[in-house]
Amino acid sequence: MDWGMKNRISRIIKPDGRTLMFAVDHGYFMGPTTGLEKLDETIEPLLPYADTLMLTRGALRNYVSPAADLPIILRVSSGTSIINPMLLHEGISVSIEEAIRLNVSAVAFSIMVGAEYERDTILGFSQVIDEAERYGIPTLAVTAVGRGLERDARYLGLATRIAAELGARIVKTYYCEGFESVVESCPVPVVIAGGKKVPEKDALQVACNAIQSGAAGVDMGRNIFQSEDPVAMVQAVRAIVHDNSSPAEAFELFNELKR
Ligand code: 5RP
Repeated sequence: MDWGMKNRISRIIKPDGRTLMFAVDHGYFMGPTTGLEKLDETIEPLLPYADTLMLTRGALRNYVSPAADLPIILRVSSGTSIINPMLLHEGISVSIEEAIRLNVSAVAFSIMVGAEYERDTILGFSQVIDEAERYGIPTLAVTAVGRGLERDARYLGLATRIAAELGARIVKTYYCEGFESVVESCPVPVVIAGGKKVPEKDALQVACNAIQSGAAGVDMGRNIFQSEDPVAMVQAVRAIVHDNSSPAEAFELFNELKR
């Protein structure tokens, strides 16, 4: 691995081997997602507690100051919106030159393992990996997004391992029962998405379960920015990711910090 690749990964995954990625890329297929209507106002107080910010190029240009000192994970796949019944057919939407111009630390691409168009997404991701590796830019594979998928350890293990075999440097997936086996059979760091908004206590429990099962962290969005107190929630998630807090301790912290 060359210096540039190592440097970018080390900006994302901190010396304790963990990362709190804050995902606000939802607009690329969901439009003005609840909580992100004024994306800049939502994220501004949260940035000091996030290790990285995952978003689209439009959001980066329009809502984030170029002076912000935070590694960026740029979404480079899209193609279908939430109102399209064929959701899950994504291709390359941002060139590697644009990723370099925007000085990002990694690029993210969704592969749709098990969906009708999995071949297109796997080949598109492979092309992104080839181009990104040429410039020492790590790739984050986003797996298991979609309706009707049985998100069990067998499926998630398959999807994450395929992503790593393709060359992803980090893989994002969902937590499930038996998550240890998903992590063990994936040779690169695994982070979990938060998924739909659930009560804070439950989201903290899932994050903690994932960390204890070997995840390198979270790439969490809605359960932070749709929380009744996003600033308290991001700090509670941080306590789990970086301080090994238990779910009860993290929830207590959330309640203490809650305004
Ligand atoms: C969508 C994504 C989102 O970034 C991801 O779903 C994380 O956000 P959330 O925690 O809200 O699920 O990659 O494809």
